Amino acid sequence: MTDYFPGFGNHVSTEAVPGALPVGRNSPQKPAFGLYAEQLSGTAFTAPRAENRRSWLYRLRPAAEHPPFAPYTGAPRFAAEPAPGPLAPNRLRWDPLPAPAPGTDLIDGMATMLVTRDPAELDGVNVHAYAANRDMDTRAFMDADGELLFIPQSGRLTLLTELGRLELAPGWIGLVPRGVRFRALLPDGEARGYVAENFGAAFRLPDLGPIGANGLANPRDFEAPAAWFEDRDEPFQLVQKSLGSLWTTLLDHSPLDVVAWHGNLAPCRYDLARFNTINTVSFDHPDPSIFTVLTSPSTVAGRANADFVIFPPRWMVAEDTFRPPWFHRNVMSEAMGLIQGAYDAKADGFVPGGLSLHNVMAGHGPDVASWDAATNADLKPHRMEATMAFMVETCWPYRPTRLAMESAQADYDAAWKGFPKARLP
Ligand SMILES: [Fe+2]
Repeated sequence: MTDYFPGFGNHVSTEAVPGALPVGRNSPQKPAFGLYAEQLSGTAFTAPRAENRRSWLYRLRPAAEHPPFAPYTGAPRFAAEPAPGPLAPNRLRWDPLPAPAPGTDLIDGMATMLVTRDPAELDGVNVHAYAANRDMDTRAFMDADGELLFIPQSGRLTLLTELGRLELAPGWIGLVPRGVRFRALLPDGEARGYVAENFGAAFRLPDLGPIGANGLANPRDFEAPAAWFEDRDEPFQLVQKSLGSLWTTLLDHSPLDVVAWHGNLAPCRYDLARFNTINTVSFDHPDPSIFTVLTSPSTVAGRANADFVIFPPRWMVAEDTFRPPWFHRNVMSEAMGLIQGAYDAKADGFVPGGLSLHNVMAGHGPDVASWDAATNADLKPHRMEATMAFMVETCWPYRPTRLAMESAQADYDAAWKGFPKARLP
């Protein structure tokens, strides 16, 4: 049996029970086995065809069958507001989250670090970190505000979603569309990582321009899961994020009861090792946009609501070039994380599981040690091994939450202290 279907945003037809999927129509008068047909929209009904994303789900009970929601208080660090007061133009960096308390599942282990827009504005991206040590057994989560891009850093993550099972490990990413309910298992007992929550246009593959028809993340390497469901009639808690707040309700069954589905709105996963990295073979470090895996466009041409960018293992061959990322001040805002290894612009202080923020127009670039090493390096071809940093870049300023402000490293500015002054003739 197929576990995954290859391709990004493809139209998939899949059934976990033979005969469950209607043929030739979406909403027959009597779906097979008494299943309930339900459309899940990812775009407005009238979105242009090339943008239009939706799937039809065939389930044991309609998602509409649930009691009222009440506020959920079990995840105090999740869905947090920005810290009060004006946003200082400081660069910030964080160590990994502390170990989670025993019995912390993915939802209660989420910590919102950086926020941009109000989800009601239908734009922006938030960055969360998670640290968890317990499976979600009788509860599920759904984000009505945006799609969730999971970036595991340590420990595998199995996302049991309404549309199928998504198995992730560090080095993979998983994308769960807005509104898709899921529960998370931790096959290694503990898991850590990051989540980019995108309120704007859905992530898609970037245009390639003169690169041509192939390169960067190739569509065939994304995988959507086959239909999978669980038939569990027992109390099940559903936690839902809506308009920036967490809510909960109690079902009498698992909501992961979709027996068959078809459409082009589905979770997917991608192995970052499959990224076809492109870089200079002459001189100068190109702009980091060459490392874009997925992009969420804004309404301004070329200005992303969110870009997911990676810095993967690669050959460095540029001649007469300062090879690490150069000093820069960016009109966009940059949140960076590290999945493994070291990042070539920061020799110290940025460890796997950590996070850094360089907001709009903040001067940044290599620290003194990295600058010194790169300036004096013998420019032989050099392969960067076993490294994977990533960036969630956005046109919106990131506002740290109170937790983020209180847990930032004390003196990140020292990374750029002590550069020797240039000597004029
Ligand atoms: Fe940067």
